[in-house]
Amino acid sequence: MSQKNYSSNRSLKFTESVIREMTRVCLSHQGVNLAQGFPDFPAPAEIKEAAVEAIRADLNQYAITWGEPNLRQAIAEKFSWYNGVTIDPEKEITVCCGSTEAMISSLMAIVNSGEEVIVFEPFYENYGPDTILCDAKPRFITLHEPDWHFDEQELTRAFTNKTKAIIINTPNNPTGKVFSRVELQFIADLCLKWGVIAMTDEIYEHILYDGAQHISIASLPGMRDQTITINSISKTYSLTGWRVGWAIAPASLTASIRKVHDFLTVGAPHPLQEAAAIALRIDRGYYKNLAKEYQERKNFFLPVLKDVGFGVFPPCGAYYIMTDISPFRFSDDVTFAMYLVEKLGVATVPGSSFYSRPSLGATKIRFCFPKRMETLQEAAEKLKRLKKR
Ligand SMILES: Cc1ncc(COP(=O)(O)O)c(C=O)c1O
Repeated sequence: MSQKNYSSNRSLKFTESVIREMTRVCLSHQGVNLAQGFPDFPAPAEIKEAAVEAIRADLNQYAITWGEPNLRQAIAEKFSWYNGVTIDPEKEITVCCGSTEAMISSLMAIVNSGEEVIVFEPFYENYGPDTILCDAKPRFITLHEPDWHFDEQELTRAFTNKTKAIIINTPNNPTGKVFSRVELQFIADLCLKWGVIAMTDEIYEHILYDGAQHISIASLPGMRDQTITINSISKTYSLTGWRVGWAIAPASLTASIRKVHDFLTVGAPHPLQEAAAIALRIDRGYYKNLAKEYQERKNFFLPVLKDVGFGVFPPCGAYYIMTDISPFRFSDDVTFAMYLVEKLGVATVPGSSFYSRPSLGATKIRFCFPKRMETLQEAAEKLKRLKKR
């Protein structure tokens, strides 16, 4: 007897996250997980203490739906000194369950069915399902290797009166691209001309290499009122499991984002919001040190990959390395990634999961390196076996 399928058409349009699936495959092979981007080293002690303190102080009930006032104040202070934009914490911030929820709540708050959203490709895999969940039509713009630039004419042609938003992610996952001021100004000019919202995911804003500089598109002239800036504590403070993020947007958009957010999740964990406020006010030397430690990891791991035979695209920011696997002559990225995890014990993410069509990523896989040096050394030892094949 055939079983009726009760799943919605919407849910059938996308697959389970490949990144999170690779983590599960990795666990079953007891491998080194260089697939999902989360640190295997501890978060700063003072932030953890603040969370324990907040639970002891019984901040255990719902916080204000759109975020604890103390945290919103801390977000506004930091956005002002680091990104150069002054905002009103009362009216322009929505605290969400990670930047994941901030992104989907924001998209649902602004996009009408059938409107177009421009997405640079390769893209962080959530943006695909995000556009499906809000019933948008994604329009993909290629980032061309090796430096992941976009073609100005192609981007100009993509903007029409059907375009509602453009998603920018800088520093970028998976490519490590850091959008330059010139590129952001080009995008901003198109947004201003067509009345399009820039949705910018800046969760890697402090992880920058070799002098690269992070610029927020909201800080460019005229863009403050047409930008939604998404961020979280996940990457900057190594707290991916706490699920505290936020969307910064002009008051009228924030009012809509807050409504969607309220009915999706009510709010982010209250005691962890209190601790997040402490995180955002941490001594500023912390950020320099964070970048320095990631620089060391990148400087160690990039040559390892080169040495065992990968083509590498050196990142300017974030903590990923996109690689070209064609020298290994496997049939495709998924077969190669499965070989790496099952036979060598190193989990990675197949390139196809960052593209709208799998064939576009068939010669690539992505490594992440937010790991202790011992973990990276262990992965390096395992990968050396590729040379002996
Ligand atoms: C570009 C990008 N945005 C968002 C996320 C998810 O962030 P959060 O933990 O704040 O939901 C990730 C996680 O890897 C990411 O790479």
